[in-house]
Amino acid sequence: MNILMVTSEIVPFAKTGGLADVLGSLPQALKKLGCDVRVILPFYKMAKPVVKKALIEHGEISIPIGNERIVGSTLESRLLKDIPVYLVKQDAYYDRDELYTTAEGDYPDNAQRFIFLSQYALEACKQLAFKPDIIHLHDWQTGLIPVYLKTVYADDPFFRKTGTLYTIHNIAYQGLFEYELFEMTWLPHSTFTIDGFEYWGKMNFMKAGINFSDYINTVSQKYSQEIQTSEYGYGIDGVLRTRAHRLSGIMNGVDYSLWNPESDEFIAENYQSDDMSGKTQCKRDLLKKFKLPLRSMRLPLIGIVSRLADQKGFDLIERILPEVMTMDVLFVVLGTGDSKYHALLKDFARKYPAKIGVRLGFDNALAHKIEAGADMFLMASRYEPCGLNQIYSLKYGTVPIVRATGGLDDSIENFDPATGNGNGFKLQNYNAEELLATIKRAVECFRQPDVWQKIVQNGMAVDFSWDASAKRYLNLYHQIQKLH
Ligand code: ADP
Ligand code: GLC
Repeated sequence: MNILMVTSEIVPFAKTGGLADVLGSLPQALKKLGCDVRVILPFYKMAKPVVKKALIEHGEISIPIGNERIVGSTLESRLLKDIPVYLVKQDAYYDRDELYTTAEGDYPDNAQRFIFLSQYALEACKQLAFKPDIIHLHDWQTGLIPVYLKTVYADDPFFRKTGTLYTIHNIAYQGLFEYELFEMTWLPHSTFTIDGFEYWGKMNFMKAGINFSDYINTVSQKYSQEIQTSEYGYGIDGVLRTRAHRLSGIMNGVDYSLWNPESDEFIAENYQSDDMSGKTQCKRDLLKKFKLPLRSMRLPLIGIVSRLADQKGFDLIERILPEVMTMDVLFVVLGTGDSKYHALLKDFARKYPAKIGVRLGFDNALAHKIEAGADMFLMASRYEPCGLNQIYSLKYGTVPIVRATGGLDDSIENFDPATGNGNGFKLQNYNAEELLATIKRAVECFRQPDVWQKIVQNGMAVDFSWDASAKRYLNLYHQIQKLH
């Protein structure tokens, strides 16, 4: 089966969050199941050090954007050895320091950048003579592709048998753009309706993906239910409810060749479940990295690696930290994002230098060191479509403390002292008191080495490799093919 994935991120070429991790690993798992999988994304500045020289240069394609024609070219690279990755070179759009947004706000031409990508991906299939059975789309950046297929390309024999799957990784980012930019798309006006992708007078690229794709899925079972409610649906829960018969949840897997304490090259010492001595070294190394006192080695160390966004629960953390700082607990935080959270974290680091270490920025090596060196990993998310860090944490014997939402709820089992079952600590409600109580519960267990050992071992034994979920995707692809 021929699969084209269209994405705006993929490890190791471009990453701001978990989308990149998923794209870096799902294609490999599908390849093992016999699919011919290829990936296309923009050639961002971030990818340039990774792709010093393209394997093949496929030449130029010109795309109409409003009254202009914008020319890009297709560079071929590979994911590992055998998955072709096509990078769309269009420097005016993509050769920038960030992917979507800077401290001053979103790039003002984000609509044009992804209208371009959407049309380019389809034209690139022809350029490469690659007829996809399925085009698998990810998030708002690719939401217009099924609209093009159903209109501009409706009678094109090249795509006669092509079906589409649209994966929602995060419904809060919808790609909303002013109607004035509609003419940039060259789409027929009939698509700009309430059943199409009009949303309160604007274009909504995610709504386009939902309404025009054959099938839709999200990245955990629980999130697929949540987004059909007004509490989690960010205004388009009604749209999803009308397509509920075509909507499912498939839990993300993870890539244990990159996230595994037995082989991780970024950490101070490798370790495994039957010999955890290396983890102590990793903790010492982490304290040093954050200039926290080594005499505090015996205290529980809570790690956070996160985009600093409202989604991730920092308003709760803000409320409980003053009290947590009176407890025997240490924190290390790595993150980047919203400037209000930068200010907040800097402030904490200044007030409690012996208790909290903060690094503001994007640092993959440090993210691995935190997974390995911390005792607990905190994700107090308001919502979490899947979440990957809690899954990495399990493998590193770093006990997750999570809010019971989306993939956090699906992947973490609350520890039950009576039975010894469970691999983490969960709070049900988005509430500061509950968060504090949950952290206290975790700290209490940490003080009992036998109990702690049990929780750690339970977590390390869990397997979230892609095998099972990739099979679910393949089944869904087959179902989609039957429609064409
Ligand atoms: P989301 O995609 O919502 O950001 P996930 O838990 O799915 O959340 O994935 C986050 C991914 O991004 C993880 O691989 C995590 O290690 C990485 N990450 C997030 N922030 C940073 C950062 N500041 N530095 C390095 N890696 C980060
Ligand atoms: C999004 C979500 C995150 C999920 C990731 C990969 O960024 O916020 O929860 O793990 O996509 O699907």
